[in-house]
Amino acid sequence: MSLLERTGTGRGGPSAENALGGVGRTGLSATIKRRLVDELAGNPASASAVQVRQRITKLVNEVAAEQAIPMTSRDKQRIVEAVVHDVLGLGPLEDLLAQPEITEIMVNGPHQIFVEKEGKLTLSEAKFESTEQLMQVIDRIVTSIGRRIDEASSMVDARLKDGSRVNVIIPPLALRGPTVTIRKFARERITTDDLIRLGSATEDMLTFVRACVRARLNLVVSGGTGSGKTTTLNILSGFIPDDERIVTIEDAAELQLRQEHVVTLEARPANVEGRGRITIRDLVRNALRMRPDRIVVGECRGGEALDMLQAMNTGNDGSMTTLHANNPRECLSRLETMVLMSGAELPSRAIREQIGAALNIIVHQSRLRDGTRKIVSITEVLGLGTDHVELQEIFRFKQTGLDLEGRVLGSMHATGVIPHYLDHLKAQGEGLPDSMFQRPIGIVEAVR
Ligand SMILES: Nc1ncnc2c1ncn2[C@@H]1O[C@H](COP(=O)(O)OP(=O)(O)O)[C@@H](O)[C@H]1O
Ligand SMILES: [Mg+2]
Repeated sequence: MSLLERTGTGRGGPSAENALGGVGRTGLSATIKRRLVDELAGNPASASAVQVRQRITKLVNEVAAEQAIPMTSRDKQRIVEAVVHDVLGLGPLEDLLAQPEITEIMVNGPHQIFVEKEGKLTLSEAKFESTEQLMQVIDRIVTSIGRRIDEASSMVDARLKDGSRVNVIIPPLALRGPTVTIRKFARERITTDDLIRLGSATEDMLTFVRACVRARLNLVVSGGTGSGKTTTLNILSGFIPDDERIVTIEDAAELQLRQEHVVTLEARPANVEGRGRITIRDLVRNALRMRPDRIVVGECRGGEALDMLQAMNTGNDGSMTTLHANNPRECLSRLETMVLMSGAELPSRAIREQIGAALNIIVHQSRLRDGTRKIVSITEVLGLGTDHVELQEIFRFKQTGLDLEGRVLGSMHATGVIPHYLDHLKAQGEGLPDSMFQRPIGIVEAVR
């Protein structure tokens, strides 16, 4: 790539912007913005979005003529868009939000924006002009949901109009400047076919978990941050039969169930005065009074785990949630810690008993080094043994190495263990052939 191209927006081809160098575009849009502000100063509130766009277009033409900058109509269009995004929208973020292949956007101060594409982080060429411009955009985001951000309250969770989740943290807490993390709302939901096509699961694995969901086993999806837990939970909830009443509970509604009979509850942070907080736990308790057939909790992080386990143990079977853990075994210890966070003074054996009795299946998800996301383990929870809750792995992904491009190599297969819950599945009309669980010939590692 030539120097000329690199100084531009990276879309290739020399243009007026490129010819002006990196500063040119900023300088030009700054001039136009200043004029616009002057023009609107008399009565800014009266201008509609359409009017603002028209004025910007007019100003771009004027300024280009005055400064004798040769511009094609495409160049002008691009500058108009940039200024419109600045004045009415989210500035440089708009362009990144519009690119469907970008899944996350991370702003570390005004001059550094990382994006995630296909699971890989890269530094984007987009930048804010200044801390002030970034703070304006942040204000626009948080005020649109009735929140405020300043030195006294410098962390906010928000949501964009398109459903994307946003976290903002500013100085003095963030030392390198205002920091914004956006988890983009996936317009195209990942389906079971996608999981198979992407190598995230095999058909057998999905057939097994579908049977588990339909037969009302209680299920947890575990994994690290961004490993695809919510996406998998959404797919698993899709297996719930249409004639059941589903109550979903989330911090920020992300799940999109295809069924008709769904009640969606969303927790609420405290308001500016620090009042009115409704936690996931409050909602789980309330949901139990709503005659649910199934409760789907987006993520368990604290005391709600106890209510969830109790719900699972007392007739609301077939419920599911996600939680943060690095492996299925850690999933159990995390649950134990969360139950303790509920303030319940239970001996640890009693807690383990609850967990062992409530939970049936752990679907463990992982984001691998090459950025791919996979279901790396499907494990049964057998109940409390002499001391700890016993687990039995049914399917696993075994990594064998990396190819020359750094892609993860390995295989997904049954471990050879016949599931403990197979009889239950059969009894519920969800029988599966034993052959599905046979270890493929050639896979010789010991079954744990
Ligand atoms: N199996 C998958 N293959 C590829 N991308 C995925 C997969 N599952 C999820 N993703 C993408 O990864 C990102 C994080 O997924 P999400 O389910 O929100 O993770 P988590 O809930 O674990 O934080 C999203 O952009 C999502 O579209
Ligand atoms: Mg999630």
